[in-house]
Amino acid sequence: MKAPIRVAVTGAAGNIGYCLLWRIASGDCFGHDQPIILQLLEITPVLERLQGVIMELEDSAFSLVHDIIGTDDANVAFNDCDAIFLVGSRPRSKDMDRSDLVAANGPIFVGQGKAINANAKKSVRVITVGNPCNTNCLIANANAPEIPNSGFSAMTRLDQNRAGGQLAKKAGVPVATVEDVFVWGNHSNTMYPDVVVGKIGGESVSGRFDSEWIRGEFLTTVATRGKAIIVARGASSAASAASASIDHMRDWWQGSSGRIVSMAIPSEGWYGVPKGLIFSFPCRVSADGVITVVEGLPVDAFAQAKIDANIAELESEKAAVSGLL
Ligand code: NAD
Ligand code: LMR
Repeated sequence: MKAPIRVAVTGAAGNIGYCLLWRIASGDCFGHDQPIILQLLEITPVLERLQGVIMELEDSAFSLVHDIIGTDDANVAFNDCDAIFLVGSRPRSKDMDRSDLVAANGPIFVGQGKAINANAKKSVRVITVGNPCNTNCLIANANAPEIPNSGFSAMTRLDQNRAGGQLAKKAGVPVATVEDVFVWGNHSNTMYPDVVVGKIGGESVSGRFDSEWIRGEFLTTVATRGKAIIVARGASSAASAASASIDHMRDWWQGSSGRIVSMAIPSEGWYGVPKGLIFSFPCRVSADGVITVVEGLPVDAFAQAKIDANIAELESEKAAVSGLL
């Protein structure tokens, strides 16, 4: 039997938390032989609701769950953590952009970055889900100087999954046949879902669909899907976001088996993206959790303009939170 790992989830009593915790507890993320200790963070007024979630987790009798801690203290939640899901924060309403949330949500990631720095394992892997997730990750990363940059990431896997879903629907095939489609840049309307090396059933996506659809309806549908869900459901995506969080962390923990996956990570200057910006790149992850950006992919003028627009947007978001870095 492996030793248990410590997994923290913030905003654990929220909508994403309610889907995410059950997938983590069942072994879908860290493996079906990996025991876990869940360390759940909520704000003080929501602790009673969190207790209800913990009661339900206990009642689910997951064999991999060795302990569950519920707290409103980030120092307790992140103590000795191996993996952290930073979810806790406000979702937007239908009349907002994700970047409009930064004034309300950005400060959360200052305190949580500091608490990660002081309490988590140096090898911790952090996924930032709370929006605007790239810039919130930047804030947490900047406030945790003793944790390697390679331990921080933000989630664009939901956008990749949306792109795969749209391609599969258009082709009339199962989504599992779609490979190596990925997303550049920011989790915002500016993101660029790229099919340059994408395949459906082993054949190139660009050979199958005309570029007018790929660069028009497909791109717009993927980039604005978050808003479309808020309008239709009356609430932010939750189950699909939890599922994408599992995909992201599972591939980071167990490897991406050679597949290209989208992860927003601190840039080392890849593809001309300024060092330190949290930017979604095409990545592969080794079985021992090392993320490698796939370099040398073709970037035509259209793609370069999209990458440049994402750099400009993320630089502007960074400037807006300079006081938090
Ligand atoms: P929700 O309102 O249902 O739940 C959020 C929870 O976070 C609440 O229970 C709240 O009490 C808690 N919280 C607030 N501040 C906190 C803090 N400082 N510490 C700990 N917990 C805190 O929202 P949700 O639907 O679960 O969404 C959470 C976030 O995820 C939102 O910002 C949303 O926009 C974002 N999101 C991101 C993606 C993505 O692809 N990156 C997808 C979906 C949602
Ligand atoms: C999403 O993409 O569904 C989330 O980021 C929620 C949102 O605000 O769009």
